[in-house]
Amino acid sequence: MTHPLFDLTGRVAVVSGAASGMGRVTSLGFAEAGADLALLDINATGAQETAHEIERLGRRALPITCDVSKPERIRSAFARIDGEMGRVDVLGNIAGEGIRADPLELTEEQIQQVLQNLVVGRYICTQEAAKRMRAHGRGSIMSIVSIAGVSALGRGHVAYSMAMGAVAAMTRELSTEWSSQGVRVNAIVCAQIMNQDLQVRMEADPNLDASYLRGLPIGRMGQPEDIKGLTIFLASDASAWITGALIPLDGGNLAKNAGGSHPGMPGATRA
Ligand SMILES: NC(=O)c1ccc[n+]([C@@H]2O[C@H](COP(=O)([O-])OP(=O)(O)OC[C@H]3O[C@@H](n4cnc5c(N)ncnc54)[C@H](O)[C@@H]3O)[C@@H](O)[C@H]2O)c1
Repeated sequence: MTHPLFDLTGRVAVVSGAASGMGRVTSLGFAEAGADLALLDINATGAQETAHEIERLGRRALPITCDVSKPERIRSAFARIDGEMGRVDVLGNIAGEGIRADPLELTEEQIQQVLQNLVVGRYICTQEAAKRMRAHGRGSIMSIVSIAGVSALGRGHVAYSMAMGAVAAMTRELSTEWSSQGVRVNAIVCAQIMNQDLQVRMEADPNLDASYLRGLPIGRMGQPEDIKGLTIFLASDASAWITGALIPLDGGNLAKNAGGSHPGMPGATRA
């Protein structure tokens, strides 16, 4: 039996990036806990597939084709959610991509594109959701932040890291602004979780797998399913006093000093 603290029955959740990966898993988890879903993604076919899975669980799903780097598209998506679902209780800010480039070659346009996608996109979704949550005095907002937002990755990630650092700051600021009005704002700080992009990069660089595993004391890469329990927890009353938190979902990565080693680490010595 599910504990009632985790029950999302009667709540409406909006998830961006719902067509695949962590956004899809988060959406399914919310539906399994009883919520109805609005699914935002640029991938219309993928969002529709997630919607079908949710409907098979007996919940409502509204797939909306929406590029989160375009504020006007976000605003019209929320207007549609108002008309068709009537309220917003939960927001999962998951969509958005970075650009990797040599820091000496990175252009202003690339920096602006990454900030628009990851920072402005998450901000406008958050602003639209919070307006509706404030009106009925309750809501939970969660955003994906990479470990790159709080520690350095190298490998040309500087624009992505700057954007993710901004999302971490946004989380702390908005939690401070809104928590007394019932709107909690948290972030999930992710290390390497398998997706198509990572798969392609690991196939192209045979050393990347070992390099990632050196930073993961838990001894394996993350899988999209690993986010489900945490997102249900943050959406639900089980986390009622948790706000402004940056919660690692990282297999122990941030706890480990870069110079550390762990049992089973590729190439580890006891020296
Ligand atoms: N996978 C990881 O290791 C990892 C680690 C830290 C942070 N993140 C971040 O988490 C988020 C989700 O990652 P994932 O692994 O689930 O990726 P994924 O590629 O499996 O899914 C991303 C989804 O977002 C959608 N999307 C991309 N740009 C969009 C846009 N502008 N507007 C609307 N939808 C858009 C895609 O169509 C896709 O469905 C990303 O922001 C990513 O940067 C991922």
